[in-house]
Amino acid sequence: MSQPGAKPVAIITGAASGIGLAVTQHLLSKNYRVVLADVNAKQGELVAGSLGPDARFIHTDVSSYASQATLFSTAFAWHGRLDVAALNAGIDDRQSLYEMQEELDADGIPKPLNLKTIDVNLNAVIQGLWLFKYYARKNEKPGGKVVITSSAAGLYAMTTNPQYTASKYGLIGLTRASGPVFVKEYITVNCICPAFLATNLCPKQLLDKFPKEHITPMSTVLKAFDTFLGDDKMTGQSVELSLGKLYFRQQPEWA
Ligand code: NAI
Repeated sequence: MSQPGAKPVAIITGAASGIGLAVTQHLLSKNYRVVLADVNAKQGELVAGSLGPDARFIHTDVSSYASQATLFSTAFAWHGRLDVAALNAGIDDRQSLYEMQEELDADGIPKPLNLKTIDVNLNAVIQGLWLFKYYARKNEKPGGKVVITSSAAGLYAMTTNPQYTASKYGLIGLTRASGPVFVKEYITVNCICPAFLATNLCPKQLLDKFPKEHITPMSTVLKAFDTFLGDDKMTGQSVELSLGKLYFRQQPEWA
């Protein structure tokens, strides 16, 4: 059990670089204890080692349920509470369904590309959300906050990246459908939809091809986190960060 008044605890997936690392550093500066999770063990260990005693790393492949379950159970065992989950890990295969290279199945019949992007970007987040809910119920004061990293690709389809687009649309649907339900247990679920940021996933040479107004400053991502983490009622929201500002996109619940 966590000590009264102990610092809040955040899990960040995909924390070894890019947006996840920036969020991790931001939460540390806000007095959180952080648990970094990433499939890149070398980079994750290196980064966590440089962040001080309130940062610990757990090697995690979010596309494996067992691996992500170990992340959540270990983080809860270490700290006795879980306050925030930034479900952020993501990949982009940049494969077009139209132009994709065919693979052959065991019978020599062409089959569509593998669905790793959906596994990492969408299925893993559904599982992470479930795991967070499980542990947030065990908090001394039940509840917590989930911030999912979707993308502007989840609002405006990228014809070059259909799997990626589908995964990011899915995250917005997941947020909208679960946010109003989870909040009944004091868990808010929201997502951010950045446009383009220079990270390993979106190298600078790719970024240079886009108009400047489609570039999202990292400070805008962090502002969106502050908005979601500072509000106990806001839930089910997707916020577009395309133009360096926060545009809330929630629509009414349908059912
Ligand atoms: P990044 O490549 O710098 O960071 C992604 C991190 O996720 C890496 O450290 C990587 O090792 C980790 N990761 C990948 N697969 C994993 C797995 N199976 N298990 C655990 N960790 C895994 O890229 P970036 O840009 O920081 O990406 C973070 C999120 O932001 C992703 O969900 C991405 O789709 C999203 N995003 C990025 C945008 C951009 O322009 N960079 C724009 C909109 C959204």
